[in-house]
Amino acid sequence: MAEELIVSNNLSKEEKYQEIYPQISALIQGEDDLIASLANIMAALKYGFGWLWVGVYFVKEKELILGPFQGPIACTRIQLGRGVSGTSWHKKETIIVPNVDEFPDHIICNAASKSEIVIPVFNTQGEVAMILDVDSDKLDDFDEIDKTYLTKIINQIVPLL
Ligand code: SME
Repeated sequence: MAEELIVSNNLSKEEKYQEIYPQISALIQGEDDLIASLANIMAALKYGFGWLWVGVYFVKEKELILGPFQGPIACTRIQLGRGVSGTSWHKKETIIVPNVDEFPDHIICNAASKSEIVIPVFNTQGEVAMILDVDSDKLDDFDEIDKTYLTKIINQIVPLL
């Protein structure tokens, strides 16, 4: 396992993902513990991109419950259909929010959050088992490139669910 994440300067967003993606794969390769793998993925993404908050919530019965994350303290439990993350779970689809103030029912865990992407992660039975939530302190910070690469990154842990 690598000891340090290499993040070059002056890369486009896509180039940065292309640099970080194989490092994350190597980081979790051969590790069969879900929490340990998620913890390292969250650290790699937070350190690599400098976002405000990067973390996961696990689906447990009718709630989302906070899992490994990097960033300021966050809401511990979120109900189905509530906020961006609860809506992503309910609709079973990725949601990109360019301006959280314009999303009805956005849950404010941290006032510095301005834009957000939430990606549902499906288990092998096709149920949403967890969601990946990334928050930025910049408006309009997420697009289809983030959706593509973050989906690819987080789906590497599906065999561990
Ligand atoms: N803003 C999210 C809540 C989770 S955090 O931001 C960490 C939402 O509306 O679902």
